[in-house]
Amino acid sequence: MAVSLLLMALFLFSFLSKWNEITFQRKGLPLGTMGWPFFGETNEFLKLGPNFMKRQTIRYGRIFKSHILGSPTIVSMDPELNRYILLNEAKGLIPGYPKSMLDILGQRNIAAVYGSQHKFLRKSLMSIIGASMVKDRLLPRIDKYMRLHLSNWDAMVIDVQQKCNDMAFLIGFTQIVEAELSSIYDGFKVEFDKLVTGSLSLPINLPGTSYYRGFKGRENVVKILRRLIEKRRAASPATTYDDMLEHLVRDGALNDEEVIDQVITILYSGYETVSTTSMMVVKYLHDNQQALEELREEHFAIRRRKGAGEPVDWADYKSMRFTRAVVLETLRLATVINGLLRKATQDIVLNGFLIPKGWKIYVYTREINYDPILYPEPLKFNPWRWLDKKLESHNHCLLFGGGGRLCPGKELGIATVSTFLHYFVTTYRWEEIGGEKIVEFPRVEAPNGYHIRVLKL
Ligand code: HEM
Repeated sequence: MAVSLLLMALFLFSFLSKWNEITFQRKGLPLGTMGWPFFGETNEFLKLGPNFMKRQTIRYGRIFKSHILGSPTIVSMDPELNRYILLNEAKGLIPGYPKSMLDILGQRNIAAVYGSQHKFLRKSLMSIIGASMVKDRLLPRIDKYMRLHLSNWDAMVIDVQQKCNDMAFLIGFTQIVEAELSSIYDGFKVEFDKLVTGSLSLPINLPGTSYYRGFKGRENVVKILRRLIEKRRAASPATTYDDMLEHLVRDGALNDEEVIDQVITILYSGYETVSTTSMMVVKYLHDNQQALEELREEHFAIRRRKGAGEPVDWADYKSMRFTRAVVLETLRLATVINGLLRKATQDIVLNGFLIPKGWKIYVYTREINYDPILYPEPLKFNPWRWLDKKLESHNHCLLFGGGGRLCPGKELGIATVSTFLHYFVTTYRWEEIGGEKIVEFPRVEAPNGYHIRVLKL
């Protein structure tokens, strides 16, 4: 009896371990393993992270197949191929973000559309968050709220992770709705945070799950935004609002659903990226005093040119050469974005390998950030390398993506982190409380917070 049970278990084990290999077998696929039914290799991928990628590359080469995050996937660590994929969306290589993300971010979210719909939404987005808007409209508001946010940190122990999270949301939100800020901010943030967590969870829609809470968060966010839109539409033309919501509503190019999804897109895309980058800048500057001194000098030079309390303007921002280098080096070394997801809309052959219709492509950009040829001594925090402007425009520098989906919030993101640094390093010095871990994968975060003691300079 025991022997036959054991044999049955062995048979079942071997059957299940082969299931994915058989189901997804196609001629021309790259090498690789497909893992277990349904789960694939997700567990190893999340547990080992970059080491999983390295191990598979050693075994199977820079392009390999796997089954992660619920889909059969081709992983590409080849810089040339990665660039080709990002530049050739029109050949059937559309965004392939997980279902939970698309469901919760909305059907009119920019990551959910492609072709002419994408062009249309992107044009509307660029008109509110593009570099010329940062210059003319957004920077003064970033300055105002950044100062407010950083005004009372003296002699306090703060969790930089939490403070940067609050800062990124505050800056994003005030750009979108300034007039109603104080009355809705706290309630809106709670619901929006549920939406964000839900978008990054497994799509199991049962009470108690993050996905379920994410939907509820979205429902409440939509309710609040709908009320605001109605109020704005009903307001007399003499009532002036000067924020992104007003621009979107008055522009008239988008219907209410589209306005709502655009607002969610803007808030979502600039939230974790800006917040994580800011936290990591603080960490790297703490560990690299020479870089901190040079950065401080750059910002004191700006302050010397200005009157007390005078805001940072576009010319100041453009003069922050070293600060930009610090931000780019932080994005590279911390690898705030590990990779981008695409999906094949038809069978495609790339580099001699078949990518079957419906499969995901993980454009894994992390490794290129540590390429010793592009970045000598890649594990060293060396912002000075970015003073050579050619590095930022190098074909393989994909910190902000590439092709038709190159981040439209790039300047806004860098300007926000730069303004944060301006007020932080000219007002305060700080020391670490110590001993806190920062994990790098699947997202950069300090699980128990990152605490520092702050003192006025
Ligand atoms: C340090 C900050 C940031 C980083 C590292 C970053 C990075 C990226 C990357 C890598 C992409 C490409 C995604 C893809 O191809 O699938 C992207 C797209 C995007 N980003 Fe950013 N981003 C940052 C800040 C922002 C900010 C502040 C906003 C808006 C307020 C923003 C809005 C967007 C949007 C809307 C897209 C989608 C564009 C499209 O699909 O056409 N980002 N970002």
